[in-house]
Amino acid sequence: MVTGEKTAGPKITELYSADKIQKRIIELGKTISDEYKDVEELVVIGVMKGALVFFADLVRQLKTKDPLQMEFVRLSSYGSATESSGHVQAPYLDLPNISNRHILVVEDIIDSGRTAKFFMDYLEGQFHPASLKLACFLDKPSRRVVDINADYVGFTIDDLFVIGYGLDYDEKYRELPFLAELDLNG
Ligand code: IMP
Ligand code: MG
Repeated sequence: MVTGEKTAGPKITELYSADKIQKRIIELGKTISDEYKDVEELVVIGVMKGALVFFADLVRQLKTKDPLQMEFVRLSSYGSATESSGHVQAPYLDLPNISNRHILVVEDIIDSGRTAKFFMDYLEGQFHPASLKLACFLDKPSRRVVDINADYVGFTIDDLFVIGYGLDYDEKYRELPFLAELDLNG
């Protein structure tokens, strides 16, 4: 290494504070609760790992007719880079029989849309749900390569790579209570 040369580290810039996120989730919870008020035995499926934090906060804002059933799957389409690998992997996809039920899928972010599209199509084919909707914490519509839209969106963001509030870069930063942009070149 040449002495005196600056080594740029990753730069983390806060986009949405923990407080702003909580306020938005309360609003989202009200909207969803209102639309589901007459729906029986809703199943909420969290897509791990990214949706972990959003899922935990969102379900605690839901007021539904019957108690919720919570299920989890693990899907991934990112490797360790900031670019989608283009094909969806399902390291854990073991759901009980939820045929003909009302299903709400909770995702962290809709980027290319491949992961969400894969999973929504899978649920439709496998379980013929009475209703099937998608809630995502973040939407990056400018990156879409497949035709899918969420029914409930926390925040719509530009084409930035973000971390925190469940979202990772190379399995790091999920624990940050706020959402931040990660610039690897500082
Ligand atoms: P998609 O299949 O391209 O829509 O995106 C799938 C997954 O990529 C998401 O569920 C996230 O786990 C991950 N991802 C997409 N954009 C970001 C980002 O900005 N930060 C962290 N993870 C992301
Ligand atoms: Mg994810």
